[in-house]
Amino acid sequence: MSDRSLLVVVLAAGEGTRMASRLPKVLHKVAGRTMLHHVLAATRAAGATRTAVVVGPGREDVAAEVRRIVPDAEVFEQTERLGTAHAVLAARAALEKGADDVLVLYADTPLVRPETLGLLRAPLKAGAAVAALGFEPADPTGYGRLVTAGDELVAIREEKDASPAERAVRFCNAGLMALAGAHAIGILERIGNANAKGEYYLTDAVEIARADGLSAVAARADADEVAGVNSRVQLAEAEAILQRRLRLAAMAGGATLVAPETVFLCADTVLGRDVIVEPHVVFGPGVSIGDDVVIHSFCHLEGARLESGVTIGPYARLRPGTQLDSGVRIGNFVETKAAHIESGAKVNHLSYVGDAHVGADANLGAGTITCNYDGFGKYRTEIGAGAFIGVNSALVAPVTIGKGAFVGTGAVITSDVPDDALAIARSRQVVKEGWAREFRAARAKSPGKPKG
Ligand code: UD1
Ligand code: CA
Repeated sequence: MSDRSLLVVVLAAGEGTRMASRLPKVLHKVAGRTMLHHVLAATRAAGATRTAVVVGPGREDVAAEVRRIVPDAEVFEQTERLGTAHAVLAARAALEKGADDVLVLYADTPLVRPETLGLLRAPLKAGAAVAALGFEPADPTGYGRLVTAGDELVAIREEKDASPAERAVRFCNAGLMALAGAHAIGILERIGNANAKGEYYLTDAVEIARADGLSAVAARADADEVAGVNSRVQLAEAEAILQRRLRLAAMAGGATLVAPETVFLCADTVLGRDVIVEPHVVFGPGVSIGDDVVIHSFCHLEGARLESGVTIGPYARLRPGTQLDSGVRIGNFVETKAAHIESGAKVNHLSYVGDAHVGADANLGAGTITCNYDGFGKYRTEIGAGAFIGVNSALVAPVTIGKGAFVGTGAVITSDVPDDALAIARSRQVVKEGWAREFRAARAKSPGKPKG
């Protein structure tokens, strides 16, 4: 297919009304990325030469998301909502530049895979002018029906315009369509709006092409893949389908998911081989996990890179900017953010390590806290290789603990500690012999009176 140029037109003018949301529908997320991002990623994987996106009037937020994902995409506004064919023609300037193949996709159909786009496009190479993608939903209500005769697609009939016989057809229009670039504008221009909704239906392209003696065909997809999202319930259904797909891919790639249905992945999560993920782990965006990493239960990761042999959790929270080099151990109730922790270092219990660099083989005792924020700015903590931080220590940034240095338990460290030094920063212990015995005796004599 790579010898043929491909223009993809993505219709993203769907409002968020049925979502009960301030956010436009296509900016809602599944598996950590917007629906629009999923569709654009699939088109890129399917080999789009150019991308045009049609957005609703004044939708700068949607246009910005398009440019973030595909910087050279052309964005068009559909000023009035007059139907799917009218929406495609909003991208007329892109169509006029010409392409061998044109694919029309909906941004609210985020689960479509690149392979399926290839399948939809394939008939064009064989000479078809129009190809539609069909599927058999459990409930066909509301979908256009694909009227076929053998391999030929005769018509797509919108439910409101369908005869009872056509309505009985279960093979439905997913909405995605492929058009031969040479005929696309000619066909689209002749689509009228004499139908039950008074809209310019893209689906009429089938009958117009056939009237010209051109051929139209239908490809077939799984219902799971072409599920459209119009409500929060359907958004959750799409999430469930995508999570299942991502879990299967993670396991096929060599990761053990002990209880896959309790692990939530992002579309961009990267897992190495022989990774073990225990139950109830959530991966946010931007996580990359090396080989032989063990993630114990109840961890939450986001924007983190873990190299081979790292162990985290249970109950670890890794926030953006976390880099754990090979063999690092992060234990229970530890939070990291913008922290680079080098090979072999250990942060095993109840710590916060933020805006920090921790050298190789350092050991941070239970309750070590980097005090990185004073209400205004963020400050860095530097901990040298092999340093040992005693439990319950507060490191007040900006501060540097030298290589191989010791910090005594319960310290509040406000100034730098040189390499190989010991810092003690707590008040000296006072012992009063017999004090407790005298206290009890005094209390027994006059219970109400505090001891002086
Ligand atoms: C459309 C199809 C129908 C198919 C169904 C699958 C047509 C005429 N019908 O119907 O055969 O079974 O999708 O879900 O194409 N849009 C615009 N501008 C418009 C109108 C629509 O951008 O003026 C976009 C919408 O945001 C949406 C998509 O096109 O993403 C589909 O539009 P919608 O009105 O939902 O079409 P359906 O009636 O569902
Ligand atoms: Ca729809």
